[in-house]
Amino acid sequence: MASTPKSSANSSRTIMLASIAVGILLTVIIWPLSMIGKGDPSAESADEAELRIQPVARVELKKTVAPSDGKPRSAETVYNAICKACHDIGVAGAPKTGDKAAWAPRIALGDSALLQSVINGKGAMPARAGDASLTEDELKAAIAFLVDKAK
Ligand code: HEC
Repeated sequence: MASTPKSSANSSRTIMLASIAVGILLTVIIWPLSMIGKGDPSAESADEAELRIQPVARVELKKTVAPSDGKPRSAETVYNAICKACHDIGVAGAPKTGDKAAWAPRIALGDSALLQSVINGKGAMPARAGDASLTEDELKAAIAFLVDKAK
């Protein structure tokens, strides 16, 4: 009966290993459960990022041109009401009005690429420069106005 002490040592080791395994399992299962409802940290940082980008959009999106009475609004009217706010002093990296060096690489993109940038928005510039009422023709004219100033 020399094997009895050995097998009893074996079974107590088995019990110890089993207890450790159960402990690990419980930790793995219960710890994540206890985190539920405490908020997803990645969602929190997405919110923060949104907060940081909101102010520019909020201020600029409020700007609109007076509604047209059927006729397209002139490039100058649109520029003064909308584009000037950013392009006059170069807000958030906007190429400044009349700054040839800043505009040369933009102009080189071509008229239709510039129109697409303004329609879809680019960088800090919101889509349609933040005024959805602007027609394609009005945008084209305002872009031509800016391009002319930089020639
Ligand atoms: C909220 C500020 C803001 C307003 C308002 C705004 N822009 Fe911009 N605009 C920018 C910024 C910033 C850029 C540079 C974008 C970039 O390259 O990241 C830019 C770039 C451009 C470009 C170059 C696009 C390109 O592809 O490089 C054109 C053309 C342009 N704006 C035209 C206009 C016109 C026309 C208006 C008015 C109808 C206008 N913008 C109003 C901020 C503005």
